[in-house]
Amino acid sequence: MQITMLGPGEYLLRQAERVEQLTATVSHNRVGNAKLAWLGREIVAAVRYQVPPIVKDWALLSDEGGDLAAVELEVNLVSGGPAEAEIWLHPDADPALVLPFVLEICRDFAREYRRNNVILWYLHADVSEQLTSPTGIGSIGRDVVADLLVSAGAQLAHVYRISEIDPWSAGEPEPPADGYRLAHWFGPTPARWRAQVGTMHEITMADAPIGETGYIAEKFSADRVAADEASAVEAGRLLVTVLALAPDGAIAGLTQIAVQDGTTVAYQWDTSVASGHRGHGLGRSLKTLATALVRERYGNVRRIITHNAADNVHMLRINTELGWRPLAHKGLWSLPVG
Ligand SMILES: CC(C)(COP(=O)(O)OP(=O)(O)OC[C@H]1O[C@@H](n2cnc3c(N)ncnc32)[C@H](O)[C@@H]1OP(=O)(O)O)[C@@H](O)C(=O)NCCC(=O)NCCS
Repeated sequence: MQITMLGPGEYLLRQAERVEQLTATVSHNRVGNAKLAWLGREIVAAVRYQVPPIVKDWALLSDEGGDLAAVELEVNLVSGGPAEAEIWLHPDADPALVLPFVLEICRDFAREYRRNNVILWYLHADVSEQLTSPTGIGSIGRDVVADLLVSAGAQLAHVYRISEIDPWSAGEPEPPADGYRLAHWFGPTPARWRAQVGTMHEITMADAPIGETGYIAEKFSADRVAADEASAVEAGRLLVTVLALAPDGAIAGLTQIAVQDGTTVAYQWDTSVASGHRGHGLGRSLKTLATALVRERYGNVRRIITHNAADNVHMLRINTELGWRPLAHKGLWSLPVG
């Protein structure tokens, strides 16, 4: 088994393209097309423009027959939460042979940053036997990888639902009620709004369900917002942001969509409403305006993709009512690191 850690050297672009090909093959296998794949361009940007306090690494596992697996590794150097890894196994690879190498890479990464466990994300096959999330809401297919993860000592900690919408089949913007108003912009957040956008990211992390992952809410300073968005721009992402403002001018809500330049795909990032402002329908107003802005400005986008905790009943109810369709489920597994 050959293990290559991606670094900012001269081979990065070629290696990132191999990860793109591999993740596209997995995505085809699971959902019939490549829309869930990582793009080479975003991997290159993530490796070259690391945004403190997050460290990201990529590993590619191959043998003489070709690439067998890719792993994205991530850790926050400041918060004491678990390390994270997203695992992609080629459909032709034998999971029983390849997964042990992948798990060792994940454990080594977690040990390097002195974490006791690592959360593994995996896009499971759509098989009839299901494993239910420990939250009791949401399930994944009990495929061979699920059984191998259990044998390796991992526990299912949470389930995420991936959904999509075609902006051209979405409804018209729904203006906010009760004296709230919306502001929006294209591209990176202007300096005067960065601190507020950071606060809304913190609310998303603090208030979205986390199951048994042990995630710890992170801090988002204005500088981190600027650096995150600059890295996203480097990766070819065209940002669309909508803010909700209360009658007194206080920030009440946020949603962001990142259009992937040169493709027909966009990604729904955070949506959040601050606790004192929930129950006014702001989630719907924010999302319907953002989707309409994508449709107007980036008319070639045919799908927006979002990931939500399967037990995020408030967000999923809004998404379902607005026409988002479930596409697949990812398991989040907690693997202890000895
Ligand atoms: C998802 C979210 C944006 C929806 O907010 P919203 O647009 O105000 O929701 P609604 O107006 O549809 O509220 C419907 C009801 O649910 C309640 N509600 C909404 N979100 C709630 C939450 N997270 N916890 C408790 N109650 C909530 C509202 O108070 C309201 O109650 P009411 O009918 O008694 O007035 C908001 O719940 C939120 O910010 N959650 C935390 C962040 C998150 O999970 N984001 C999604 C992950 S990307």
